[in-house]
Amino acid sequence: MPSNKDDGGWKKFVWDSEKGELLGRTGGSWFRILLFYIIFYGCLAGIFIGTIQALLLTLSSYKPTWQDRVAPPGLTHTPRSDKSEVGFNLNDMETYLPYTKALKDFLAKYDDENQRDQMKFEDCGDDPAEYKNRGDLESDVGIRKACRFSRTVLGPCSGIEDREFGFKDGKPCLIVKLNRIVNFRPRPPTSNESIPEEAQPKVQPNVIPIYCTNKREEDAGKIGEIKYYGIGNGFPLQYYPYYGKLLHPQYLQPLVALQFTNLTLNTELRIECKVFGENINYSDKDRYQGRFDIKLQVNSL
Ligand SMILES: *[C@@H]1O[C@H](CO)[C@@H](O)[C@H](O)[C@H]1NC(C)=O
Ligand SMILES: *[C@@H]1O[C@H](CO)[C@@H](O)[C@H](O)[C@H]1NC(C)=O
Ligand SMILES: *[C@@H]1O[C@H](CO)[C@@H](O)[C@H](O)[C@H]1NC(C)=O
Repeated sequence: MPSNKDDGGWKKFVWDSEKGELLGRTGGSWFRILLFYIIFYGCLAGIFIGTIQALLLTLSSYKPTWQDRVAPPGLTHTPRSDKSEVGFNLNDMETYLPYTKALKDFLAKYDDENQRDQMKFEDCGDDPAEYKNRGDLESDVGIRKACRFSRTVLGPCSGIEDREFGFKDGKPCLIVKLNRIVNFRPRPPTSNESIPEEAQPKVQPNVIPIYCTNKREEDAGKIGEIKYYGIGNGFPLQYYPYYGKLLHPQYLQPLVALQFTNLTLNTELRIECKVFGENINYSDKDRYQGRFDIKLQVNSL
């Protein structure tokens, strides 16, 4: 009998027909609990999906998310050594072979024969011109054409006639490029204010000018004439913007060649090169942002 009684109590707890309670709660109470959980988990799922969506939106496949932070472009040169030193003896080919080899290898992708394909390349003019707009980064135009850049523009530093790039004559060439930044439009200087006086004549429309000079006071007058070769002797705007690896696989950066034609021999010289533009900054932390410096020593003994 006691067990029967207990059974009745248990059954009554599971379903109390008098009060209309299930497991000790009324239908309305159960409904509120259910509603609470639906809303709670619904919100959780919503937040989760929202976060993922936001993440996917910012991770656009073509545009680096932190682009603004890296906007000031690096300026790099070839040949380049660990300590930014280029030193050689003009009478000893062995000493400059690594440099001329580096230049040859670097310029190989600028060979005319690699730029023939009409579907991938186009001519963008021999003179500096406006930015070349090839549609929005996110549009579905797909692969964009690249501007040709002919080695002949680099004159005696092209490596076409002088396979030694001037090193044999103690007049070494350096080739300089601005690092690629997706969707970056370098802006030329709008005034001469912040530009050293000797570099001011280089300011002209549609070009980012580059200017090199002695880094140290004591090297003044020892660097000699530096010749500049390139479209507009700088970085012409029609090569910008760059659309990124995916959309602009054939892209060629415009190059500038520097030739040091009258260096003081047997002396270590420090030379600094800088590009100038409205949105080009220099940083104390990054020695290659918008500039670089190099130790150059040509021995003849
Ligand atoms: C800067 O100076 C050069 C020569 O001194 C001049 O030809 C050029 O027009 C000037 N540019 C600007 C933006 O003032
Ligand atoms: C080369 O530089 C020296 C001074 O270092 C100078 O006397 C000479 O005239 C310069 N040569 C040329 C061709 O500029
Ligand atoms: C360049 O530097 C200035 C001041 O130092 C700063 O306001 C500006 O945002 C910088 N520009 C870039 C592109 O980093």
